[in-house]
Amino acid sequence: MRETGAIILAAGMGTRMNTALPKVLHLIGGHPMLRHLLDALQGAGISRQVVVIGWGAEAVKAALPEVQFVLQEPQLGTGHAVLTARQAFADFEGELVVLYGDVPLLRQRTVSAMLAAVSGEASADLTVLGFRTSAPSGYGRMKLGADGGLERIIEDRDATPQEQEIDLCNSGAMAGDAGMIFELLEAVGNTNAKGEYYLTDIVGLAGERGKRVTVFETQEDEVMGVNSLAELAAAEAVFQSRRRNEAMDNGVTLSDPGSVYFAHDTRIAAGVTIGPNVVFGPGVKIEAGARIEAFCHLEGCHIGKNANIGPFARLRPGTRIGATAKIGNFVELKKAVIHQGAKANHLAYIGDAEVGEGTNIGAGTITCNYDGVDKHRTEIGKGVLIGSNTALIAPLKIGDGAIIGAGSTISADVEGDALAVERAELRLMKGWAGKFWQRKRAAKKAKETKD
Ligand code: UD1
Ligand code: MG
Repeated sequence: MRETGAIILAAGMGTRMNTALPKVLHLIGGHPMLRHLLDALQGAGISRQVVVIGWGAEAVKAALPEVQFVLQEPQLGTGHAVLTARQAFADFEGELVVLYGDVPLLRQRTVSAMLAAVSGEASADLTVLGFRTSAPSGYGRMKLGADGGLERIIEDRDATPQEQEIDLCNSGAMAGDAGMIFELLEAVGNTNAKGEYYLTDIVGLAGERGKRVTVFETQEDEVMGVNSLAELAAAEAVFQSRRRNEAMDNGVTLSDPGSVYFAHDTRIAAGVTIGPNVVFGPGVKIEAGARIEAFCHLEGCHIGKNANIGPFARLRPGTRIGATAKIGNFVELKKAVIHQGAKANHLAYIGDAEVGEGTNIGAGTITCNYDGVDKHRTEIGKGVLIGSNTALIAPLKIGDGAIIGAGSTISADVEGDALAVERAELRLMKGWAGKFWQRKRAAKKAKETKD
């Protein structure tokens, strides 16, 4: 039976990035580039996939522990990299797709379409993913033959000024019969500007052997290569724009889409409204009808139906907001479970805590969850009223229906329906202030007359 395989090339040093982090581990939408490609391969019917690593191999392995790797040592070029993976495909029969780890925005449907182009009858022997661009510099140029097929790929550095005019560029992705690809690679030499074994040279060799090679064309923004931090930022922008459009297509209202930043796994239901300048870190899920107002930062949290967040709220990992709950300005939550209808509308820190249904957290409430060594929990029941400017010293339990007087520092459990107030007795001295002012003003006047 014929299988479908994939090889991702990720062994290069990424010299132009100028960073210690291996290139393929740089993040887009909070996700390593390599993971974006592995996601794109999911659903493309791939039965065997191998990632070729070399430079920074240990870091790449640690970041993606579940992946099958082969080590390319030393790194002698993209063609040499694919040959390194040959052993892993020794008993393999079928089509192979080769992807470059630094071309991270490739879509699953493109991978599937390329594989379809080289499978079945009337198919090409080899297809290479290309794109047209007004800035081809740095990319391999695709030279077409008289019959419209792909004749040759000429690397930027090896191209004549005339060839450099070609605007059809190589994305790096190609698909074809695995046996044929490995066989062609054996014939590839390294007499070129970089002294490397280029994968792209198999195109010319395939033509010489009577194989049919085609270009599979796609849009530039899907296949832009990431070789520098400026290109990484450009890829991030493309990713964000994709996500914003997807969200709006799915019924999410974005009042200023360009200022909302998504993570790779942000899940937002139809009917959610998001204001300007909102940033989603990884792991956010928002249910229908919720509103996220301007300037919020959310990460690792779940927002229930019709909840209201912000403006200016920060939700950190482990936070769950129940339906219709309200989290207002300058409220920070961490590992906090806020039940249905509860409110923390102004200036609060609620960490390692549970807040019961309908409870109201006053302005300036702080859960003192850290004793300098360990973290402790605060459990607040249903229908509780926490007065403003309250310090809740964890571990602490406050029962249902209790009231905490404003300005209290609560260091012991409070039972349900109790009032807890911890503050000095109020001293009220009638007329004291009036006499004070009189005395002060008279003294000042006497001093001025003397001067
Ligand atoms: C490559 C293509 C070029 C194409 C461009 C698209 C070749 C010779 N050139 O150029 O035609 O337009 O990508 O972005 O293929 N790698 C290895 N082992 C190696 C060398 C590279 O695994 O020995 C990996 C790198 O980690 C990278 C990918 O292969 O993920 C491409 O290598 P890179 O050096 O970025 O090639 P480009 O110069 O971008
Ligand atoms: Mg590259």
